[in-house]
Amino acid sequence: MSEFAAPRGMRDFYPEDWRAREALFSTWRQTAERYGFEGWDSPVVETMELLERKAGEEISEQIYGFEDKSGRRLALRPELTPSLARMIIARQGSLVFPLKWSAIGQCFRYERMTRGRKREHYQWNLDIVGEESIMAEAEVIGAAVCALRSLGLNETQFKVRVGSRAVLSELFAKSGIGKEHFMACCLALDKRGKITEEDVASLLTGEGLTPVDIERVFELLAIRSIDHVAERLGDDSPAIGQLRELFALADTLGFGDYLTFDLGVIRGLGYYTGIVFEAFDTAGKFRAIFGGGRYDSLLKVLGGERMPSVGLGFGDVVVQELLADLGIVPGGNRKIDYAIGYMTADCRALAMQAAMKIRAKGHSCDLGLSPEKAKKFFGRADKLGAEKAIYIGPSEAESEKFNVKTMAGGETAEKTIDQLI
Ligand code: HAM
Repeated sequence: MSEFAAPRGMRDFYPEDWRAREALFSTWRQTAERYGFEGWDSPVVETMELLERKAGEEISEQIYGFEDKSGRRLALRPELTPSLARMIIARQGSLVFPLKWSAIGQCFRYERMTRGRKREHYQWNLDIVGEESIMAEAEVIGAAVCALRSLGLNETQFKVRVGSRAVLSELFAKSGIGKEHFMACCLALDKRGKITEEDVASLLTGEGLTPVDIERVFELLAIRSIDHVAERLGDDSPAIGQLRELFALADTLGFGDYLTFDLGVIRGLGYYTGIVFEAFDTAGKFRAIFGGGRYDSLLKVLGGERMPSVGLGFGDVVVQELLADLGIVPGGNRKIDYAIGYMTADCRALAMQAAMKIRAKGHSCDLGLSPEKAKKFFGRADKLGAEKAIYIGPSEAESEKFNVKTMAGGETAEKTIDQLI
């Protein structure tokens, strides 16, 4: 055993892991394309100024920061959203809005290591920027649900819980709590379940909430029906209207069965302003599969024009754990169209010609690197997951005819190079 291992919390991808990862990425990419999103990318290293925020979010304390040789403060990105905002602000005058962008990028967070949390993960992001209407929420959530369905999951296995910071904001306004406390209160409330209720309450007290306010907020977060929240806030509440609209749109778009209302979903990032959502496995075994929401002020905060925006991040770690738990292996086993072997060096030229023909036709082909016995070759072809196998011995080399064996059924067909494929 070497003394070297990957840094704690960071993963190596051996071929079988790589296959599963690529299959997931390919589902993400195909889904993004189906929903009309364009791809984008940015550097893994960003300036610290872009990433650091003062709001007391967990993510800010988890940044891998460093100085380069010229003393610039840089960091490995913990998420893609600040980079997206930076790129859009830089071309805000010329880009055509609303825009729909999709990216897959590796993110780094110095996390406390628990199940579903690593110090590096890949995240698929879908963002719609420049759209006020709730159709933006409906489309990004619908796309993420579609990706999970393509991976083989259904509405009995996961749900998307939908909450609303706008509802909380209306409630806080009604209680006379100043806007300046809003974000800190959301971040404190997001910690519920991770720290004790008393500690959450004392964080809220620190923001100026009275015990009566705190009790009301806790009570509200436990409500599981939009109608009941409407009774508290009044039916003319715009935030309630948005929630009702999202559920109606989801029904029309065919994924209503996947949504549940849960005001307790608040999200741990400061920039969300409206509807927020997180997807979980229904068995409750894993952390969030994906999460996102509306962030109408982030571009302005980072120096651009205000721009209504909605997006989500969907990590590779939790979904792979969930799929493995359900016995689903994305990408499956190793597969190749053809395997070719030969008995002696004299037989190699014909084997090489066959391989070149197969590859030129666009099929995949593993060509033996050295002579081997037939038994060993067919064993190897089986391990390679070859659909068809060709073995060249001296009589095949002589006659320039060989058998193409279908590995699954065992039947063979005699061919020449010209008849191949
Ligand atoms: P987030 O909730 O911090 O949101 O992360 C989104 C998803 O990334 C999580 O639901 C989870 O699947 C995955 N994830 C996050 N941290 C880790 C980790 N340490 N290990 C494994 N997986 C992880 C955001 O990052 C937002 N920027 C998403 C967004 C995009 N909002 C708007 N646009």
